[in-house]
Amino acid sequence: MPRDQILTFFSKYIESELGMIYSESNDFQLQNRLEEIVKLHNFANIGELYQSAQKGITGSLRQLVLDVATNNETSFFRDPKYFRAFENLIEKQIKGDLFSDKELRIWSAASSTGQEALSVAILIKELKQKYASDLSFSILGTDISERALEKAREAKYFQLEVQRGLTTPQMLKYFTKNDKDMWVASSELTKHIQYQKMNLKDAFYPHEGFHFIFCRNVLIYQSVESKIKILSKLESSLVDGGFLILGVGESLIGLKQDYETIMLDNAVVYRKKQKILKVA
Ligand SMILES: C[S@@+](CC[C@H](N)C(=O)[O-])C[C@H]1O[C@@H](n2cnc3c(N)ncnc32)[C@H](O)[C@@H]1O
Repeated sequence: MPRDQILTFFSKYIESELGMIYSESNDFQLQNRLEEIVKLHNFANIGELYQSAQKGITGSLRQLVLDVATNNETSFFRDPKYFRAFENLIEKQIKGDLFSDKELRIWSAASSTGQEALSVAILIKELKQKYASDLSFSILGTDISERALEKAREAKYFQLEVQRGLTTPQMLKYFTKNDKDMWVASSELTKHIQYQKMNLKDAFYPHEGFHFIFCRNVLIYQSVESKIKILSKLESSLVDGGFLILGVGESLIGLKQDYETIMLDNAVVYRKKQKILKVA
């Protein structure tokens, strides 16, 4: 049976806006997400949403479609082996064996509700304390979802969310419980993090030169063509020798990229090749 006209329309729209592919095997999920939009935007049914969308998807409807279409699943220290690899690299930096820069710039390039950026901040804080280091660092978190960014900026989490990945000592050291039973991240962490809305499909990427880019669990939803474009833009946002950290199911295999592959603590990370200076 040919794919439903409405699902085809929205899957094409989402792909053109986000690069995210909703294949026919995900029709059930897409249908559920459209039903969520119907409820949140007070349409009578999916047919009415479709009719309105055909006149143009703009303003609050556009943002709602983008928010609902994206999967914001995340947790603290998700896939710990990558954080062990990152820890290993931060230790090298503290010992003076990695970058000569005094401040590390880290980009969480699909930051969702902020757990990834906060995990990075906790890890660095812990190592700074362990080695009595004065290393300074800043973290940029970006995402296309306003809804996710709003939560990331608030940095307030439910008990179940903090339990996913944080140890009790980390919870008590870096969070306080407010009167609504939410765990609020301390300014000791949040002062290092800035959030900004950004679509990875955009032509212009931040160019401050990052030492580390976490771009995890987002490329998996992209077409091969879109992955290749995003990876090469990420490469130009890295300093020479900077590291790209992808998610568990994501790799550069078959994507013709100019990164070095490095195995660290059982995790594969990618390193931007350093320019070799010619000596005359
Ligand atoms: C599954 S979450 C991953 C969060 C975190 N990186 C992690 O691994 O736990 C994927 C995030 O990518 C964001 N996203 C999807 N497409 C995007 C795009 N084109 N540009 C920027 N963010 C996007 C979604 O809004 C979502 O928050």
